[in-house]
Amino acid sequence: MRLDKLLSERGVASRSELRHIIRAGRVSVNGVPETAPERRVDPGTDSVSLDGKEILRSRFRYFMMDKPAGVLSVTEDRKQQTVLDLLPPELRRLGLFPVGRLDKDTSGLLLLTNDGDFAHRVISPKSGVEKRYRAEVDGVPDEGDVRAFAGGILLADGTRCLPAALEIGGGNVCHVTVMEGKYHQVKRMLASRGKPVLTLRRLSVGELELGEDLGPGGFRELGAEDLCKVLKAWPIGK
Ligand code: URA
Repeated sequence: MRLDKLLSERGVASRSELRHIIRAGRVSVNGVPETAPERRVDPGTDSVSLDGKEILRSRFRYFMMDKPAGVLSVTEDRKQQTVLDLLPPELRRLGLFPVGRLDKDTSGLLLLTNDGDFAHRVISPKSGVEKRYRAEVDGVPDEGDVRAFAGGILLADGTRCLPAALEIGGGNVCHVTVMEGKYHQVKRMLASRGKPVLTLRRLSVGELELGEDLGPGGFRELGAEDLCKVLKAWPIGK
């Protein structure tokens, strides 16, 4: 549906007034100012705002959480606490699910959404979205580990990983950046170098950084600017 038609149907103003309003740059679609009244929008998937006030909210929602260690990154479990249990009831009803998984004992940045296409793209190695972790290991990471990671680690089961970055962090700390999300990947990569992981925390996904302000179990909704940091090609297909 045309942007001006959608807004007039919602009683915002007449079609002719809306053409001026839109051309003046007062309307945003998915957080990005839009000056073309004929722009096609999908009432199911697009968000539209006028002067910063939300007129239409997409049924797709996106959140980031500082997942605490000890919580499962699944939608439900009979016995153990899940990341969905940390959300208030009104958000639990949205059909959110974690974008990929963090192990139970891993903490840090976890994305939650009800947009399967978005999740798929963030996870797929083809999208090239970097996931950065801070690891404390039993041992001292060294230049040999940096080279081995850059060359693509061969895991104990014969799986070859894509080239990854390991930065030495001092003492037993290192930072690892990967573009794929194989089962226990970072732990298995470091174990293959004889440096088993003691603690693991995800710090960023793409250019979206966790920071320390949310606190364990804290979360916030993501806007268009955040989503562009995660996926450069967001909004998808628009
Ligand atoms: N790699 C791991 O080994 N565990 C995680 O939770 C995430 C990445």
